[in-house]
Amino acid sequence: MARDRDEPGWEAALAGQLAAGRLPTDARFDRLFGERLAPLAALHFTPVAVAARAARWLTGGGATEVADLGAGAGKFCLVGAAITAATFTGLEARQGLVRLARDAARRLGFATARFVVADVLTAPLDRYGAFYVCNPFAEGEAEPDEWLDPALPAPDKLTAATALAARLATLPPGTRVAVHCGLGAPMPDGFELVSSEQLGRLGAPLECWVRGAARRW
Ligand SMILES: C[S@@+](CC[C@H](N)C(=O)[O-])C[C@H]1O[C@@H](n2cnc3c(N)ncnc32)[C@H](O)[C@@H]1O
Repeated sequence: MARDRDEPGWEAALAGQLAAGRLPTDARFDRLFGERLAPLAALHFTPVAVAARAARWLTGGGATEVADLGAGAGKFCLVGAAITAATFTGLEARQGLVRLARDAARRLGFATARFVVADVLTAPLDRYGAFYVCNPFAEGEAEPDEWLDPALPAPDKLTAATALAARLATLPPGTRVAVHCGLGAPMPDGFELVSSEQLGRLGAPLECWVRGAARRW
């Protein structure tokens, strides 16, 4: 059988599949990221089924602007933009990955997936109503030839993760945060774990957290 992903226009077919509510396999989706990154996607990027579940939950509370803190090549945002009405913004430190993510969004025709070069430890977060986090600082634990890029943005995982957790602690009550494969530090006080499902690769959980009302903590 011909593999449509190798044919011109396969991105339109992929976008159509997502729009129809049918989730593609990760192998098919990851093809978007090119020959060098597609083989690394299973290690670093969110599986399609996890992204879909997280995106639906994050927008289920009414958020219309969702941020992925450490967006890689944009996989979570692209899936979210395809299956919900919200706008997904990927904040990513590495320019090359942002370029790839923007290119993938353009090829899929997804205007509600946007990507910016930004440091998640300092970028303004106030425009977003919900957040996705997929272990953004753990890349250094992989072999160097498995890194997404030769330069790591955050060599010190615990320091960076603790700083990000402190930022999450300042989010308004009611804010939803979905965490896949961990944050790298404990979630801050004031967040309530509403669900934890083993959906991801290697049994990694998708955790759904909500910032509680300030008076309760
Ligand atoms: C595990 S990948 C996650 C990819 C994406 N969230 C997904 O689920 O498909 C983590 C990403 O976080 C990025 N990152 C690490 N530290 C960062 C920082 N301080 N600011 C922005 N991005 C950062 C890395 O460059 C990497 O692309």
